Amino acid sequence: MQTVSAPGRVNLIGEHIDYHLLPVLPMAIGQRVTVRFRVSTDTRISAVSLDGFAPRSFEWTNGIEPYPAGDWGNYLKAAAQAVALRWGVHRGIDAEVTGNIPPAAGLSSSSALLVAFTLALLRANGIAASLEELMEILPDGEQYVGTRGGGMDHASSLAGEEGCALEIHFDPFHVRPIRIPADWGFLCAHSLRTAEKSSAVREEYNQRRFAGQRALQALGFARYADVTDETLASRLSDPLEQRCFLHVVSEARRVREAIGAMEAGDAAAFGRILNEGHGSLRDGLQVSCTELDRLTECALQAGALGARLTGAGFGGCAIVFARRDELARVKQGLVDLFYGGDASHVFGVAPSAGALAMAAGTSAVSSHP
Ligand code: GLA
Repeated sequence: MQTVSAPGRVNLIGEHIDYHLLPVLPMAIGQRVTVRFRVSTDTRISAVSLDGFAPRSFEWTNGIEPYPAGDWGNYLKAAAQAVALRWGVHRGIDAEVTGNIPPAAGLSSSSALLVAFTLALLRANGIAASLEELMEILPDGEQYVGTRGGGMDHASSLAGEEGCALEIHFDPFHVRPIRIPADWGFLCAHSLRTAEKSSAVREEYNQRRFAGQRALQALGFARYADVTDETLASRLSDPLEQRCFLHVVSEARRVREAIGAMEAGDAAAFGRILNEGHGSLRDGLQVSCTELDRLTECALQAGALGARLTGAGFGGCAIVFARRDELARVKQGLVDLFYGGDASHVFGVAPSAGALAMAAGTSAVSSHP
């Protein structure tokens, strides 16, 4: 049996701007999806889940029909389809899939599954794919499942580095790891509202995305990368376009400021930037919910320096930031204030190696072109 694994991610700052091709600052986390597999003698792909999902088996062809919407097997099919489009159909695999990324939490468990299964299919067939090549097929590949976000989740899962946040650029694509100060710590805290990828949530997500796009056009720009003047928002007459524009441009600034604070080891400034980011997601983009707002308030009350929703929003997790030696106290405060004594929904997250670093040393997947 061979093994590949791909981590989930938390986004530290830079929310709802990757699809406008603006830089973001996530980190890969220790929680991951692991695929153990044996190479088939034919083109059949079979997978059993050790986490209670029904076994799935299908023929690898150039045009794979999806399972009904919501079926976990669609991520396996998306991987096969993405590989086929770029490298053709090859030998299938018999796989065992397991993971410990909480689902529907905004931690990219589904992208990690897509990444891990894609790497398993490539490795099984001795295909060496670079990070850049994988980034060309994976975000698009997710369209097969009916979702299409930006490229942040796949890039973090692939390119994560232990101890580092990732400054990810999309236009053109490149990743710069930034060492996180050793005395900084992070918790992930679930709002207790699941962030399902339902069609209603997808519609809300797309609505923000398209309004941001329309705002850009209305102001006569081709790329958000060319815009830094937040006051231009006042020229927009549509309130949704105005709010989305202001969020996008100010969030891009916060990413730049957060990188500066991280490099300077300025924890207080970094925390303030996260808090400002949550405010913009709550009041501007309006993708938060009462649970996430209360959770982030409780985190600050418990002594965190910063707290914000992470991922698409509409439920899921908040990322909570504190000095490492304060983390246990903040966690206990959250358990008391938000969870009524239950400690099972808040856990530490550490910046971890991505799937390519884990695979380094194997001949099939290279982290460089
Ligand atoms: C989801 C998408 C990402 C990104 C975030 C919001 O997680 O998959 O690409 O757009 O939402 O920042």
